[in-house]
Amino acid sequence: MVKQKRIYVCQQCGASSAKWLGQCPSCMEWHTLVEEVERPRKGAAPKASRPVALAEVGQGPEAERIGSGMEEVDRVLGGGLVPGGLVLLGGEPGIGKSTLTLQVLTSLAAQGRRVLYVSGEESAVQIKMRAKRLGKIPRGLIIHCDTLLEGVESAVEQVDPHVLVVDSVQTVYTPALDSSPGSVGQVREVAARMMGVAKGRGMPTILVGHVTKEGAIAGPRLLEHLVDTVLYFEGDRSHTFRILRTVKNRFGPTHEIGVFEMGEGGLVQVSNPSEFFMGHRPRGVPGSLVTPVMEGTRPILVEIQALVSPTRLTMPRRTSIGMESGRLALLIAVCERHLGLTLYDRDIFINVAGGIRVQETAIDLAVVMAMTSSLTEKALDPAMVVFGEVGLT
Ligand code: TYD
Ligand code: MG
Repeated sequence: MVKQKRIYVCQQCGASSAKWLGQCPSCMEWHTLVEEVERPRKGAAPKASRPVALAEVGQGPEAERIGSGMEEVDRVLGGGLVPGGLVLLGGEPGIGKSTLTLQVLTSLAAQGRRVLYVSGEESAVQIKMRAKRLGKIPRGLIIHCDTLLEGVESAVEQVDPHVLVVDSVQTVYTPALDSSPGSVGQVREVAARMMGVAKGRGMPTILVGHVTKEGAIAGPRLLEHLVDTVLYFEGDRSHTFRILRTVKNRFGPTHEIGVFEMGEGGLVQVSNPSEFFMGHRPRGVPGSLVTPVMEGTRPILVEIQALVSPTRLTMPRRTSIGMESGRLALLIAVCERHLGLTLYDRDIFINVAGGIRVQETAIDLAVVMAMTSSLTEKALDPAMVVFGEVGLT
């Protein structure tokens, strides 16, 4: 094998250097140099493209989407996997990314397709154990345990799959770069090469990537501009509820979500999320109220819980789970000023039940009413649904 030349490229200005430097000699920025494989600049001229009338352009690859067999996944993808499309599936460790991708592949293989699951994290036996929990294992599901990028490429050559999953982009590396697996240079190189493989074969490819809450480690975020579709798998690990969200999609809308529940036999699609959230709701209890929130194009009913109780603390506690704490502080101020409620001597806790996170300001009124209900110890009508933004005035 010809030894590839490595260079260090400044992520700020694009200047390159033969060795690593803490500061870019060109733009003087610090810590911006990242290791890359040098690619020859000149080569075959790119295929000539000519201008065409937009009206005469035929349908692109989006037309022949491959249904994943899971409706909630297809919804988020904008109707299914696109030939040659590169999808990045990000999420915190343990949230269920491996489970979800394995389920998608299992369902594709059950439709008679040949699919390849590459794992750099688990052994073949571990994957088998997981797959058994998910149901019958179809013949077309091929696995390959490897962390070497070149090994993954040759596995793809051998298997020639219809769909590929690489779990995860942080564990695969190429010895062409000195840096360790998971570093910025490696992750980018792996993604760029997989992009080439996906496009070259017209094969939908899903790259799994771990993201921490802080998003600090070199990871999926730096790949967002490169891939066609970015999905994030979210949820509270202490709850079974999971949301698959589109962050970017070159082949569809970005406001759809897929809803799942993690169970004993893997992820179960939740087609009526309101039912899921309303199932365990207490009735006739002060501090509980239902509000609709929009998730994608679907309204979902969720329960807002408030607990307002006397405190001896000079700085009373204000805690919110599932909504922004700054928003809660604002609503408390509005209640004190305009409703004449006395809240400075109360601890206030707000919880959006079920582990969902609400960003909409339309939950304001429900939060205000749940707090009032808890403070006055008066239960609200369980059949009532409340929504609306509350302004400062
Ligand atoms: P996993 O897919 O390994 O997460 P990730 O790849 O995002 O790190 O899922 C991890 C959790 O899911 C693990 O704690 C076990 C749980 N789980 C179930 O509850 N039911 C199941 O059927 C499976 C396969 C996993
Ligand atoms: Mg995993």
